[in-house]
Amino acid sequence: MILSIESSCDDSAISITSIETNKLLFHKKISQEIDHSVYGGVVPELAARLHAEALPNILEQCEPYFDKLKAVAVTSTPGLAVTLIEGVTMAKAIAVALNIPLIGVNHLVGHIYSLFIEKETIFPLTVLLVSGGHTQVMEVKSLREITTVAKSMDDSFGESFDKCAKMMGLGYPGGPLIQNLAKDGDRLKHNFTVPLHQSPLIAFSYSGLKNAVRLAVIEEEKKEEPNFKDIAASFEHIATKHLTMKLKKYFKTNKPKTFAIVGGASANLYLRSQIQELLRPHNATLLLSELQYCSDNAAMIGRVAVDMYKAKMFSNLNDLDIAPKSNL
Ligand code: KG4
Ligand code: ZN
Repeated sequence: MILSIESSCDDSAISITSIETNKLLFHKKISQEIDHSVYGGVVPELAARLHAEALPNILEQCEPYFDKLKAVAVTSTPGLAVTLIEGVTMAKAIAVALNIPLIGVNHLVGHIYSLFIEKETIFPLTVLLVSGGHTQVMEVKSLREITTVAKSMDDSFGESFDKCAKMMGLGYPGGPLIQNLAKDGDRLKHNFTVPLHQSPLIAFSYSGLKNAVRLAVIEEEKKEEPNFKDIAASFEHIATKHLTMKLKKYFKTNKPKTFAIVGGASANLYLRSQIQELLRPHNATLLLSELQYCSDNAAMIGRVAVDMYKAKMFSNLNDLDIAPKSNL
């Protein structure tokens, strides 16, 4: 079995995964969303303090598995430096105490493997990762062969939901809150410009859309009874259209066969339906993670760790360092 730790942002999570069967034997996650919601975003110092409290509590519950552990895995990149260090320090201590190897896992690879929890892997795969920190398209041939073919030049898809929700005073995380508000809104009410729509680049950008939403929010606030549902719906529509337009362009030269959406924002239902629509003429299969594993968790880190263990991709105890920026 492998014990895996995730602390890259605002979720403290630990899992135990069977190396032989991929079975998830234990998984517990303590989310800090409520603690950060008053600030409208994650406060790194607070997140670190909360991890220091939550991780040992979860670890205690894993004690019955200790004598069966063959390795300990941990997210070491990318993420917030002060929160990554909490998990990595704990993993190193476990590796020393139990005399087992250490596996440093890339969080983005973790999101890809959220598709394969308790399952076999399916490769090759074209993946759209949409999270709070990332918006990128990757061609995945295997665990070791992952190429990023497009990414955001500024804000990420999930982050733009968080920032727009903050402007509307909705709270954090913004994704589910905007999705909910958008349900009753008119998607065509606000004619926001689709980012980079005239650019030949296959890349993403959300800072311009965010500013357009800011102006619309300011206008709406002037009304006696402001209601942000149309802004939320129009924003969600254009934020998604930006992704589908760039993917459509990409598919002209790179026909998708198996396509997946992963990351916290892959829970977005409008995005899921629009991507499904986009894939229809290509007869491509759409893979999605279970809703409970879209956002950050340790089950996905454990699933990567099983494949890394089998490939003997171990980290040196002295060398494994945190890397806040990813190199994927
Ligand atoms: O993957 P994740 O849990 O953390 C990172 O690795 O960043 O993703 C969190 C992000 C947040 O920005 C959150 O607002 C967004 O995912 N999110 C959504 C939805 N649910 C979560 N964005 C849009 N629609 C949703 N339904
Ligand atoms: Zn994530």
